[in-house]
Amino acid sequence: MEDYFNEDDIKAPMWDTGLVRRMLPYLQNWRPHFLVSVLLVLAGTAVQISLPLLLGRAVDLGIKVQNQKQLLYYVLLYAVGHATFFVILAARNWLLQYTGQQVLHELRTHLFSHIQKLPISFFDRTPVGRLVTRITNDVATMAELFSAALINVSGDICVLIGIGLMMLTLHWKLGLAALLASPMLYYVVWVLKGKMRDTFRLARAKLAMLNASLAENVSGMSVIHVFNQETAREAKFDEMNTSLREAELTSVFYNSFFSPVVTIFSAITLAIVTTYGGWLVSTGEISIGLLITFIAYTQAFFDPVRQISEQISVFQSAMASAERVFGLLDEAPEPDLESGREFKGLNSEIEFRNLNFAYNSDKQILKDLSFTIKKGERIAVVGHTGAGKTTLASLLKRFYDYQGGQILLDGVDLREFSRSSLRRRIGLIQQDVNIFSGTILDNIFLEEGSFDQNKLDRIISELKMESLIDKLPQGITTPIFERGSNISAGQRQLIAFSRALASDPEILILDEATSSVDSETESIIQRSVQQLTSSRTSLIIAHRLSTIRNCSRILVLHNGRLVEQGTHEELLKHKGHYQKLYELQFAEGDRA
Ligand SMILES: Nc1ncnc2c1ncn2[C@@H]1O[C@H](COP(=O)(O)OP(=O)(O)O)[C@@H](O)[C@H]1O
Ligand SMILES: [Mg+2]
Repeated sequence: MEDYFNEDDIKAPMWDTGLVRRMLPYLQNWRPHFLVSVLLVLAGTAVQISLPLLLGRAVDLGIKVQNQKQLLYYVLLYAVGHATFFVILAARNWLLQYTGQQVLHELRTHLFSHIQKLPISFFDRTPVGRLVTRITNDVATMAELFSAALINVSGDICVLIGIGLMMLTLHWKLGLAALLASPMLYYVVWVLKGKMRDTFRLARAKLAMLNASLAENVSGMSVIHVFNQETAREAKFDEMNTSLREAELTSVFYNSFFSPVVTIFSAITLAIVTTYGGWLVSTGEISIGLLITFIAYTQAFFDPVRQISEQISVFQSAMASAERVFGLLDEAPEPDLESGREFKGLNSEIEFRNLNFAYNSDKQILKDLSFTIKKGERIAVVGHTGAGKTTLASLLKRFYDYQGGQILLDGVDLREFSRSSLRRRIGLIQQDVNIFSGTILDNIFLEEGSFDQNKLDRIISELKMESLIDKLPQGITTPIFERGSNISAGQRQLIAFSRALASDPEILILDEATSSVDSETESIIQRSVQQLTSSRTSLIIAHRLSTIRNCSRILVLHNGRLVEQGTHEELLKHKGHYQKLYELQFAEGDRA
């Protein structure tokens, strides 16, 4: 859960050249757009800076000398200037957002495609929530840097420098007086912003915690009800909620000072300019028009200050997000799926020879495993929970590579074959069926365009799914909710079986595929297992005796070792691990 805190956000730098350089390739295609945006910023700055000048002219050349024509001329020019600025600003904003959305789109696609190539071991150690945040939030924050922050801050800095320079050129003494308060203002804003940033991050971290806890509670709601945990959960939630409120309040406290502080400085500067400028007008050193220009500059000076300090937090978030996104991109993908020999099919046998495997070097999971499965044979694997049965299945699919010994397909090491060809020909039906949102049909034919009516008819009749489909409101096109919550476990399992039939693998592994099935579908499932495995080399990891009985051989795994093998009767006679297992789990199911 620590990953939800995003504590690195709090410590993130405002600018990291290395990271920004890594982001640049994503801008490659949008360079012209970016360039035009920069030009628009410059044009906007120019217009913005000339507006106060026009105001001054209107006063000096129009009002003061009572020249109505000139007055009208400058006022008109002033209006045109504003209209131009409006167009430039709108174009710039749109272009930036457009570019930002394009970059965002590219980044998301890139990340998703990268994630799909990562090895299963990556998903073992990465929470789903974290991945989702990377592709949505983090990418969006990163793109915001380009879509707005970078250009806006540059624009604001241009305006600040432009106004400063203009004032100093027009009248350096009055200009200096106007800029007198600026260093002080920057100092105060800097300190205040630092406080605001830290407290804001803290509040966000607390919110993330609350979200994570909420997600956990909502998805586990049935457990909460079953165990009457409502009060305890509520207390925990309230605790987090309170700490979120405290963090928000601290953040709000500093925030409420920010705008008034800028306003005060703006007022002080205005007072200085008006007093000193007014005095200069009275001594005839400057014209009243110039004073008006200075007053307008002073007023325009403080908006950028506000905006820059707002954008600075975007910079920091973007750097933190970029670091996380690139961290994900740096995860090494699974070696090329297609590289290696193509596994064209089994001719004689699969051999496990002194196989050793560990997920992490500290704990050996499979130990010196040796056995053979002949082509077409139906083998059962039994053992207590954690014995290593699922691991065995994962190794055959090349989700992980083993460290010692070998798995040989017709005498060739499994690791020589390409992952894709192995996965195509070796089917796996797992205990937990992953259902995607869509219809039942979509879930059977996962690959786009793989639908085949004849195949479907065959699957339905082979698995005797007619009555089951008839029970569903829209038959085979019934939409299924996320995780298949509106269909039963048995129905989900049947979908998994149909999926396997649709891809028609030559070798089939069933990993406790029949354990979560209700008694109603049990017989259908039994028949399906029979059907699916009769013409295929199969490895059945089983929970129920009824599934094991028809197997030619049973392998008994105990703590990662193969301790016994033989037929049901042979093993019972042996009175070893199998007999104990049988009494513990199978016998009961068998009687039922
Ligand atoms: N992805 C994984 N990473 C680390 N250890 C794992 C992983 N999957 C399983 N294990 C460990 O490997 C052992 C065997 O697990 P598994 O093959 O799932 O057992 P079974 O399917 O027989 O119940 C267990 O001790 C389990 O904790
Ligand atoms: Mg298992």
